[in-house]
Amino acid sequence: MGAIVTVGCQWGDEGKGKIIDVIAQEADCIVRHQGGNNAGHSLRIGDQDYVLHLIPSGILYPGRRCIIGAGVVLDPLVLWEEITHLRSRGVAVSPENLMISGNASLILSYHRLLDGLDEEARGAARVGTTRRGIGPAYMDKVGRLSLRVFDLIDADRFRERLRPVLQHKNRVLSQVYGHAPVNYDEMLATYLPMGEKLAPFVGDEVPELNAAIDAGKRVLFEGAQGALLDVTYGTYPYVTSSSTGAGGACTGAGVGPTKVEKVLGIAKAYTTRVGEGPFPTEADPATADLIRNAGPIGEFGATTGRPRRCGWFDVPLIRRSVMASGVTHLALTRLDILSEVSIIKVCVGYRLGRHRLEVAPADAALLSQVEPEYEEIPTWGVDLSGITNEADLPSGAREYLRRLEDWVGRPIQMVSVGPGRRQTIIRAESLFS
Ligand code: IMO
Ligand code: MG
Repeated sequence: MGAIVTVGCQWGDEGKGKIIDVIAQEADCIVRHQGGNNAGHSLRIGDQDYVLHLIPSGILYPGRRCIIGAGVVLDPLVLWEEITHLRSRGVAVSPENLMISGNASLILSYHRLLDGLDEEARGAARVGTTRRGIGPAYMDKVGRLSLRVFDLIDADRFRERLRPVLQHKNRVLSQVYGHAPVNYDEMLATYLPMGEKLAPFVGDEVPELNAAIDAGKRVLFEGAQGALLDVTYGTYPYVTSSSTGAGGACTGAGVGPTKVEKVLGIAKAYTTRVGEGPFPTEADPATADLIRNAGPIGEFGATTGRPRRCGWFDVPLIRRSVMASGVTHLALTRLDILSEVSIIKVCVGYRLGRHRLEVAPADAALLSQVEPEYEEIPTWGVDLSGITNEADLPSGAREYLRRLEDWVGRPIQMVSVGPGRRQTIIRAESLFS
């Protein structure tokens, strides 16, 4: 059995954390491979809520190996805070169950600063980033200016590598943005202790993951963000700066595509988006408000608290994500929310001038011009949050699942009806087959 890659099929916030947590019951090893602490993966275990930004969701099960791969941009301060927070809540986090790749690029204070300054400077053309330094850190990675985890855990090397990079950053800060420089000694005082704390966790994921898969271990790749935020295939320029599609698991964790057996696409029963950019099925303000506030956890950003834009399930966009990531199966989340709306619409195609499109167009700029073609689905109006068996779903909800499977062309293997672990309908013997 090879690895499972999970991919968000929309613009992030598909409920990946919860789905990954459920699959992690069956997994030996859970891996983050792209993005950084722009992700916010919410989990409810019993009456406890957790939000994880960097550490893979499997950390809450004892005995699981969690790995942060080299494709992640890692803010050491945030990682240490997350470790400390989890420990304070009784979750064991040690080099036994958490490994971070020495090759992961660091997010440092000037990246966060530059993310905010750049957003301000762009004015109306801003992306609406999480301002966590993600874009500037990936720019440095590709521009060969990154400091990596390996640099952080060697104090001399960090001192030496930081000096010229910081000189360059300070020129940009002062000459482009008119901002005060960042102090070299203060950075050393902040980051060198982090290097000491994180050193025991540092390792090499390439031999470990390949050996694990070859030995038949169950490896689960935890996607962050969503396929529509992919830096190449997403709705550019309103995207994040990493490869959020399934291929990112290979480039960000040192595992070849021959080792991936299954790609699970995770989608909400409707659509949301945070930040700027086109959104064809965005609902009218009253309906969006209703969706946003329905259910036990509203549609507000887990990372930034921003209200999410809400709208209907968009089949042409999902078809694009399914193709670009080779999705084999689907997990549908937040079906319970649709119990609270008085009509349910699904966009099954677009009109663009005289043309009908079945798949979202390659040019993301056209997305703001398409007109969605909707089908209405009968509502069911019954609370789904206590249902754990498919047979107990009202016929309207079953019909919704059947029609989505038809439109998207992939089987729905998991259905989530609430934030809790047990609020999940699993339509497969084992998720690893
Ligand atoms: P999870 O993993 C939703 C969005 C931001 C912004 C764009 C670029 O929780 O699904 P960035 O800070 O990455 O440079 O911002 O991407 N974005 C997300 N939206 N969920 C996320 O992660 C996101 N991560 C980034 O809102 O529009
Ligand atoms: Mg999020």
